[in-house]
Amino acid sequence: MNVAVIGSGGREHAIAWKLSSEPGIEKVFVLPGNDGISGSVKIDMLDFTAIGDFCRNYGVESLIVGPEIPLEAGITDYFSGSAIKIFGPDRSSARLESSKTYAKEFMKKYGVDTAKFSVAGNMNEAEKIIDGFGGNCVVKFDGLAAGKGVFVCGTAEEAISAAGGIFERFGADSKIIIEQRFSGVEVSIIGVTDSKTIKIFPPVQDHKQAFDRDRGPNTGGMGAFCPADFCGESMLARIKKNIIDPTMRGIASEKMNYRGFIYFGVMLTKKGPMLLEYNVRLGDPEAEVVLPALKSNLNEMIAACHRGTLEEYEMKFNEDYFVDVVLASGGYPGSYEKGFEISGLENAGRAALVFHSATKKAGGRFYTSGGRVLNVVGSGTTLEKAIGAAYEASGKIKFENMRLRKDIGRRENRI
Ligand code: GLY
Repeated sequence: MNVAVIGSGGREHAIAWKLSSEPGIEKVFVLPGNDGISGSVKIDMLDFTAIGDFCRNYGVESLIVGPEIPLEAGITDYFSGSAIKIFGPDRSSARLESSKTYAKEFMKKYGVDTAKFSVAGNMNEAEKIIDGFGGNCVVKFDGLAAGKGVFVCGTAEEAISAAGGIFERFGADSKIIIEQRFSGVEVSIIGVTDSKTIKIFPPVQDHKQAFDRDRGPNTGGMGAFCPADFCGESMLARIKKNIIDPTMRGIASEKMNYRGFIYFGVMLTKKGPMLLEYNVRLGDPEAEVVLPALKSNLNEMIAACHRGTLEEYEMKFNEDYFVDVVLASGGYPGSYEKGFEISGLENAGRAALVFHSATKKAGGRFYTSGGRVLNVVGSGTTLEKAIGAAYEASGKIKFENMRLRKDIGRRENRI
């Protein structure tokens, strides 16, 4: 069978890598992919007609959607009912990620443990709400903002400036969410669902800030590791009871057309686990560690979701630890130069998995073409060994202005 992954980054490379190793899969295409992912075909992920034509011409029976943008744009609604099966929630269900207001109202309606919040439509409303929280709050743009719409604030001045910035950047008719700020330890819980059943991957931890010890601006993610053992059985049981189970009741009750990955961004606080956000997809860089950890067949898992028989699918995992170190362009997440030649890829690839996020190939050589350039994933029987493997392989890769965090897997994770 031929399949196609929609998207262009390290997450999509990891999905394609996993599927390529599975029996029964003949060809894996990635639309549009990038030059470092074999099977990439330059088709715009929002050009649904061109994607459909490609699938018919190349015998693609199954589409797996990586990023949120095509889901928000309705790619699943477009292909629903056609001969091409598509994995990812429909547009209405994708509001769990694309509208923070919708997601928070959903959490409230179904009793999911989360921070108290209010919605503001202008600066007057925002100032009153911020005042009510004593300035200690999180200010979020309602829509998709590629990680650039969330501001964690400690004072009223900071929060007012964040709210003003959102209205200025996204327009005066934007909505913003202002919510209670918690402190604690973040963990990503990734599940897969057919709308009735959910199966969960081992807990993962992302490292969102640009610099070591969680300093600097938020990024798309500078690295991740799994399993995140600090989130043990008893904590997972609380997350299931207070976050996952009520979410699944909501998905059933709202009759959502949801066959796909679902991501719970959870903060472990002194008061217990609290849901920060949903994503309606695999996280990136989380995908680059949870997919190597998945021992059972991904394509069968997706097929079980399409049939509505996920309950019968047995999800199995490797016992190893996996650590992903992101190699980024200096300056990211701000402005950066690209087009630098990358060396050492083959050497690194002998010692670890290397997933390409943003590379271009010319004359047989690879060049940087974005902010997050490569993901180097090491594994080992302990977290220390996996960290060692990831950094040893990362050290073999070089490009001008390359930047990486040196503390992936080594965060202080005490609540
Ligand atoms: N790693 C966070 C995200 O994918 O949004």
